[in-house]
Amino acid sequence: MTELSKIGVIGAGTMGSGIAQVFAVAGHHVLMQDLSEPALDRARRSMETSLQRLVKKGSLTEPQAAAAMARVSSTTVFDLLDDRDIVIEAIIERLDVKAEVIRKLDGICRHDAIFASNTSSISLTELAAASAHPGRVIGMHFFNPVPVMQLVEIIRALQTTDAVAEAVTDLTRAIGKTPRVSKDSYGFIVNRLLAPQINEAINCVYEGLATPEDIDSMMKLGANHPMGPLALGDLIGLDVVLNIMETLYQGFDDPKYRPSPLLKQMVAAGYLGRKSGKGFADYPQH
Ligand code: NAI
Repeated sequence: MTELSKIGVIGAGTMGSGIAQVFAVAGHHVLMQDLSEPALDRARRSMETSLQRLVKKGSLTEPQAAAAMARVSSTTVFDLLDDRDIVIEAIIERLDVKAEVIRKLDGICRHDAIFASNTSSISLTELAAASAHPGRVIGMHFFNPVPVMQLVEIIRALQTTDAVAEAVTDLTRAIGKTPRVSKDSYGFIVNRLLAPQINEAINCVYEGLATPEDIDSMMKLGANHPMGPLALGDLIGLDVVLNIMETLYQGFDDPKYRPSPLLKQMVAAGYLGRKSGKGFADYPQH
């Protein structure tokens, strides 16, 4: 397998900008593609802020931060991804849209290029089926905030080849993250355990059992969690949490995964957590 040095990232949102940053810091050249020019500008700004934070903490020097920024380029033109060794998509969580991106990549990239998806909950096996070369499709599930979180869940579709799984596991180590491999299943491992807990905390709020602050505080003080489930839901994005619960509920066809009515209402109201300024807490927007 050729060395994976040229990285493509599709979707320059919360996750895409973080993914681009960790690859650039590790010395890779990254091309970020998004439909929206303002999203690309925002991504560059948030990368600069995040890199400056690392400089202040002493984990990067100023020249290293500048060199990392210089390795990231951005575009709205999809076809410029044609020379990439691996393309990681972090776009909207919809199977039809992600499958369309894979079909389009098939049309422009080399046959040995790898397509990774940062999906939280979509079946990698179904996504791989969108490619004429399904063995090259794999899940690379990063966690938010990407520069901080150590784990990358590597999800093997039924079709993923051993060579691709190995190359992506090695690449993950090369950027200083810890890979852990899972077979494809609804919610994989982390979200299958995590999302139902956030959902159940929301049900506790819905039932009026305790305040969101007290529920979070109970899990911090009583279960030794560094962050309460509602604060974590706000950080992940309540729309993302709802998507995961719907995937688990429909996928396993099991009522234990039913999304909380309050979670559905919060999303319908646009209260998505940190990114919208309001969730189970308020987040002043600058
Ligand atoms: P986001 O909404 O912050 O960013 C998505 C970006 O993709 C936007 O800039 C949008 O303009 C762009 N986009 C949408 N459709 C596109 C297309 N067809 N081509 C190019 N760009 C397109 O979303 P976020 O939170 O970064 O999530 C992205 C993916 O990562 C989703 O699949 C999500 O499930 C997954 N994920 C999210 C986590 C989180 O904590 N937010 C954690 C792990 C995975």
